[in-house]
Amino acid sequence: MTILVTGGAGFIGSNFVLDWLAQSDETVINLDKLTYAGNLENLASLQADGRHIFVRGDVGDRVLVDGLLAEHRPRAVLHFAAESHVDRSIHGPEDFIQTNIVATFRLLEAARTYWSALPVTEQVDFRFLHVSTDEVYGALSPDDPPFAETNRYEPNSPYSASKAASDHLVRAWHHTYGMPVLTTNCSNNYGPYHFPEKLIPLMIVNALAGKPLPVYGNGLQVRDWLYVKDHCSAIRRVLEAGALGETYNIGGWNEKPNIEIVQRVCELLDEMRPKADGSSYKMQITHVVDRPGHDRRYAIDARKIERELGWKPAETFDTGIRKTVQWYLDNPAWVEHVQTGAYHDWVAKQYEVA
Ligand code: NAD
Ligand code: TYD
Repeated sequence: MTILVTGGAGFIGSNFVLDWLAQSDETVINLDKLTYAGNLENLASLQADGRHIFVRGDVGDRVLVDGLLAEHRPRAVLHFAAESHVDRSIHGPEDFIQTNIVATFRLLEAARTYWSALPVTEQVDFRFLHVSTDEVYGALSPDDPPFAETNRYEPNSPYSASKAASDHLVRAWHHTYGMPVLTTNCSNNYGPYHFPEKLIPLMIVNALAGKPLPVYGNGLQVRDWLYVKDHCSAIRRVLEAGALGETYNIGGWNEKPNIEIVQRVCELLDEMRPKADGSSYKMQITHVVDRPGHDRRYAIDARKIERELGWKPAETFDTGIRKTVQWYLDNPAWVEHVQTGAYHDWVAKQYEVA
């Protein structure tokens, strides 16, 4: 058996591929364009592993995707590939529209064509799992209940609007064509291999480099944090047992204001890598101008996936953030390659890329 993973060289996708192959012998076809966010160094441990077949390419390339589906006959497509950073979407939304909407539409069409032609027994088992975000629901006020699957879509950033559009396409392909789709909407992830443009890895690498820790505005915006491996286990569970056409919110009930996250990272670094002069990394915290349209609060009501699929996260925020800080301390070469762009050279050396 085989699965097709898109975006498997990114943060969550690479964690998913590593976890999948640690638990299953099912081959993974990993289709990734290797944008700035794609890093095959994350998958270095799989270099000699025949169960991982990496293909560099765009999910919107119909000829390529049709060929991969015909050749490898996967039982499922797991769609992680996306442009994922809100700040980049504010400065340059075009790529978000192209990948998150147009390429997702093309991938859906390729999957539909493939699925329609499968023998009935394989058709019944086929799944298209779309990985999405809680940001499609918009922003919560401090007193609002967390996002449930029944909340209205009210995306506020170009990123969340593009993901909302892709969720709607996936939904429509189920209702119109009967495609066996599943959608997951997860809260903010953190953990190993996280590109240091997002809050937690940026704070860790900047702190260690003696640079300012830029907190947008007053830092009182709230995000709901989930350790990436718990997101991966939830996706595996939804793939295994999710009801067709349903959406599942994924989160670990870990709401925290940004400033508290940054302070916690500093405290852990003070303990695990104390500065020579004895001062705290907190001295590097710098409040900077706020993000335009900054969503006040995200929070996930995860009761549906807990109740219907019996999923629970394995990590608390305390255990997950400690593991994350430790991972960055243990992997200075990965950090350096990402910061200097050398990971692209590494890829070119290790893999034949088109
Ligand atoms: P990421 O930016 O780290 O990785 C995205 C990957 O997709 C990269 O490897 C990139 O090369 C690849 N890619 C981009 N455009 C492509 C294209 N056109 N064709 C093929 N590959 C392409 O993102 P991530 O944080 O790992 O997020 C993965 C998915 O999870 C996204 O769909 C995102 O919306 C969703 N999500 C992320 C979070 C989070 O906190 N990071 C939370 C909820 C949902
Ligand atoms: P981010 O990691 O970009 O995820 P998202 O915007 O998708 O939630 O940001 C998480 C929160 O941290 C968000 O409220 C913006 C804030 N933030 C900062 O305060 N400083 C930073 O340098 C970054 C990248 C984010």
